[in-house]
Amino acid sequence: MKFIKAPKKFYFHYPFPVTVVVSKSGGKVNMMSAVWHTQLSFDPPLYGVLISKKRYTYNMIEKAKQFTLNFLDYEFLETVAFVGSTSGREYDKAHTFDIPLQDGRIVDVPIMSEAYAVYECELFDEKEYGDHTLFVGKIVGVHYNEKLYTGEKFVPVVEEIHPVLYIGDEKFLTTDPTTEKKYGKEEVKRFLNEWGKL
Ligand SMILES: Cc1cc2nc3c(=O)[nH]c(=O)nc-3n(C[C@H](O)[C@H](O)[C@H](O)COP(=O)(O)O)c2cc1C
Repeated sequence: MKFIKAPKKFYFHYPFPVTVVVSKSGGKVNMMSAVWHTQLSFDPPLYGVLISKKRYTYNMIEKAKQFTLNFLDYEFLETVAFVGSTSGREYDKAHTFDIPLQDGRIVDVPIMSEAYAVYECELFDEKEYGDHTLFVGKIVGVHYNEKLYTGEKFVPVVEEIHPVLYIGDEKFLTTDPTTEKKYGKEEVKRFLNEWGKL
């Protein structure tokens, strides 16, 4: 394997799912795509998204202290690309790209009607890390399409959900349900047993 010391850019761990961050401040609504995001805690339910200070969204969240994270099916890839390549400083994106929105239930920020899942977040914490700021949202409500999740753990039905994954260089793809495989503690135990290592 090759080795890069102190990399300037690193996309080696991609693909990563994309979320659309919707914000609202001073009566203005904006949205942008984000691929740098992660869940942080179940209790309390915390979710982090990293946003550069260059983004208009950064200013909106700084002011409103609320946002929603919207997960769209690959069918809506155009929306993800549109809002990730234009700024709210120049465009009213919902209007320009004809993006259907509806009111959030708890936060005063819209959610995207086309999303299959949405987290309503209140700002819990924020911290600057180099050229991005980690906005930690406390999830105060979740919207989800009940037809697309199964069981008590709300596992996605992979035949139905096609998340938008980003591989970098302005290229996207989605998942292939034929690759689904269960490989948990039971399966690992079986192998350990076969190898006489249990
Ligand atoms: C797929 C994709 C993922 C992106 N991920 C992030 C991200 O995680 N953080 C970030 O600050 N910008 C990210 N961007 C860039 C913003 O979405 C982009 O600069 C957008 O135009 C900002 O809009 P705004 O100025 O209206 O906030 C991403 C763009 C794309 C296309």
